[in-house]
Amino acid sequence: MAEDLFKKLVAHCKEYGYVFPSSDLYDGLGAVYDYGQYGVELKNNIKKYWWDSMTRLHQNIVGIDSAIFMHPTVWKASGHVDAFNDPLIDNKDSKKRYRADVLIEEQIAKYEEKMEKEVAKAQKRFGEKFDAILFVQTNPQVLEYAAQKAKLTERMAKALNDNNLEELRQIIVDYKIVCPVCGTANWTEVRQFNLMFATEMGSTAEGASKIYLRPETAQGIFVNFLNVQKTGRMKIPFGIAQIGKAFRNEIVARQFIFRMREFEQMEMQFFVRPGSELEWFAQWKEARMKWHQLLGFGSENYRFHDHEKLAHYANAACDIEYRFPFGFKEVEGIHSRTDFDLSQHQKYSGKKIQYFDTELNESYTPYVVETSIGVDRMFLQILSAAYCEEDLSKEGKQDSRIVLKLPPALAPVKMAVMPLVKKEGLPEKAQEILEMLKYDFNCQYDEKDSIGKRYRRQDAIGTPFCITIDHQSLEDNAVTIRHRDTMEQERVAIDCLYAILKEKTDLGNLLRRI
Ligand code: GAP
Repeated sequence: MAEDLFKKLVAHCKEYGYVFPSSDLYDGLGAVYDYGQYGVELKNNIKKYWWDSMTRLHQNIVGIDSAIFMHPTVWKASGHVDAFNDPLIDNKDSKKRYRADVLIEEQIAKYEEKMEKEVAKAQKRFGEKFDAILFVQTNPQVLEYAAQKAKLTERMAKALNDNNLEELRQIIVDYKIVCPVCGTANWTEVRQFNLMFATEMGSTAEGASKIYLRPETAQGIFVNFLNVQKTGRMKIPFGIAQIGKAFRNEIVARQFIFRMREFEQMEMQFFVRPGSELEWFAQWKEARMKWHQLLGFGSENYRFHDHEKLAHYANAACDIEYRFPFGFKEVEGIHSRTDFDLSQHQKYSGKKIQYFDTELNESYTPYVVETSIGVDRMFLQILSAAYCEEDLSKEGKQDSRIVLKLPPALAPVKMAVMPLVKKEGLPEKAQEILEMLKYDFNCQYDEKDSIGKRYRRQDAIGTPFCITIDHQSLEDNAVTIRHRDTMEQERVAIDCLYAILKEKTDLGNLLRRI
């Protein structure tokens, strides 16, 4: 059912100009996508929500825009050349390649699904009297699934931590995990696969040097730490934010824009005194969760997932997960990265990267807490949450609609302006209104087809307001405003439209609630 919904969402994205497969004319390119006329607007609004929440709401966070190409030694220093690997396994029958840890995670998710099913069954049986928390804590079947899940999670974490590829394979064998395509367990060994794309810079084969497309934007921030700190006279604690493209040669590139080979990240590195990083980590966890939940998609659909496996340089890490149609999955990572990156760049560049703390009267290498979120993944999260199919049948008359219940501040188009008919001065009046609003809001003019059809078109792209100009409007200077989610209509003076749009769709009003 949920899978079905996801397929429909993907089709909707293409049909309504949100997301197209890249190079669609040539049948697409694996895990690379283009954003269409509405997609780009939504993406820009997401980026603005993030950027303003970081840089405008915090006097001690500034932004940069560093290049995608970086000196090759950056990636040696950061550890990406040696260790930015995924454990991959091939099925010998289907010839399909998988990430070994993802196959195991899918097995873990099955225990979760089983637990959720038990709860749903009991809920149905006991009705209103049902106490879900007590049930989860005491029901023997649920406890058994929870124990199995914990055991497998622990075993996988240990294998990953120890970099024990044989053990990863053994888990797949022991749990009888089969290829989702051909259904057999005819697996190869598990091997490591580096995820960075390499290319050459320079014109001649001899003179050219191997460089990488950045797999994360964070390193552009680390190598600019001193530049920004000195030129901005920044005092610790302070942050540097950046939005930009990242590239990973993902093995498992399924699930639409969830896991892409070219994607965009919004990352913020927060530089703090050594020893204070876990306090800041806790603060950023809360702050980022609030940022997500303010969009109004229901706090029950988000959760923290603390990492079992910590990278060798991290002393804490957690994901913010959202309940996608295919289960709870990571949207954002919050990591306490210690002084690893700055120390490594100091070592490899031979340049001192230290901060003199005037309050403590001492120099140190700052510690870092990072918040890292994918724009595309956030885009998918929002669309998954916003996509609704509604049955509007009444008195035997079949009717339905697809509506994107996007937060108005993020919606690509804020208002559609529609003359009731294409004549008798109504289009001219509509154009006047458009002229009045277009400098502040993204508005659309639509005069084609019946009003009902036009409403449906706007519902499908998530426009929060439609206004209709009728003959009466020419006399009383008022229009009918139709609200997307409730479909309610009200008569309002044209002079009030600016204030209504400002109150309901202004990003500033969302930011004020942070
Ligand atoms: N600098 C830390 C870092 O890059 P990450 O957990 O690898 O951490 C952070 O990535 C976020 O970037 C993820 O939470 C996800 O939202 C997004 N992301 C990572 N890989 C992605 C991919 N292949 N496609 C789309 N988004 C991706």
